Amino acid sequence: MTSKTLEVISRMDKTVLITGSSSGIGEATAKYFLQKGWNVSATMRSPQKAGDWSKAKNVICPRLDVTLPETIESAVLETVERFGQIDALVNNAGYALMGAIEGVTPEQLERQFQTNVFGLVTTIQTVLPVFRRQRRGTIINVTSIGGRLAFPLTSSYHATKWAVEGLSESLRYELRPFNIQVKIIEPGGIRTNFINHGVTWASHPSYADQVEQVRNVTENINDSLPGPEGVAKTIYRAANDRSERLRYSPHGEAYLLMHAILPDSLWRSLVTRIMLGSQKAK
Ligand SMILES: NC(=O)c1ccc[n+]([C@@H]2O[C@H](COP(=O)([O-])OP(=O)(O)OC[C@H]3O[C@@H](n4cnc5c(N)ncnc54)[C@H](OP(=O)(O)O)[C@@H]3O)[C@@H](O)[C@H]2O)c1
Repeated sequence: MTSKTLEVISRMDKTVLITGSSSGIGEATAKYFLQKGWNVSATMRSPQKAGDWSKAKNVICPRLDVTLPETIESAVLETVERFGQIDALVNNAGYALMGAIEGVTPEQLERQFQTNVFGLVTTIQTVLPVFRRQRRGTIINVTSIGGRLAFPLTSSYHATKWAVEGLSESLRYELRPFNIQVKIIEPGGIRTNFINHGVTWASHPSYADQVEQVRNVTENINDSLPGPEGVAKTIYRAANDRSERLRYSPHGEAYLLMHAILPDSLWRSLVTRIMLGSQKAK
């Protein structure tokens, strides 16, 4: 087989572009698609963070910071030049701004939306011409169970994830004529860098006790959470699922079910007891 034929065959493999592949769910997803024989464009804002797995021949790690449109443009271009096509886009990059809304600064809120919402939109806008040209493609947006329900002192983060839920649900109508699918992944709590390193806390003295309580609960729970591999498998399943199914919730289904079937008063008192202990209103 000539090297030209090999090149053509490799271009027939499927290609995924993932944002935020340096750690956690993004990295696990990159590794899983690689294991399944896909070409992987494992984008990250600091490519020097890429692990040894990224040295495989069908992996590239373009620099992509979702808050910098020029890096999105160049990463998409590099991916198409290297692999000839993009079959799935996984919008995974994100972090959480937590703390009382009264203490959130405009800069903190802007950065939260720039990363979790506007950056995701720009990435979709940049990949869509490729998908339309191919007349196929799948957009997979990683939201959270926190895109369907809400926990205390997390309002800024929830606002971004709820925004992406609505955006995704609407998008699938306009993209259907082009054979472009939209999928939403809503993980439950997952052991990654997210809780202990990925969270930015807003501060306000009147909410210090609540913040301390929520912080203790979330940080203490991290080690007991499942790793990101199950989410990676679900993302892979979604990328290959040609059905109209929109939502997948790895490790989150029990929470969503409880939220749906419990009376609001019971759900609220459960969440309050777990997250805020016995604190009374001041
Ligand atoms: N872990 C959970 O419990 C959980 C639950 C539900 C949903 N999620 C969602 O899952 C996604 C991945 O989180 P994770 O749990 O895997 O956490 P993680 O290990 O902290 O990974 C977050 C990734 O996003 C990247 N990122 C942050 N800001 C970025 C930017 N401006 N441009 C490009 N990349 C950026 C980080 O890159 P750097 O290494 O450069 O910081 C990192 O690669 C997030 O959208 C999160 O909201 C997580």
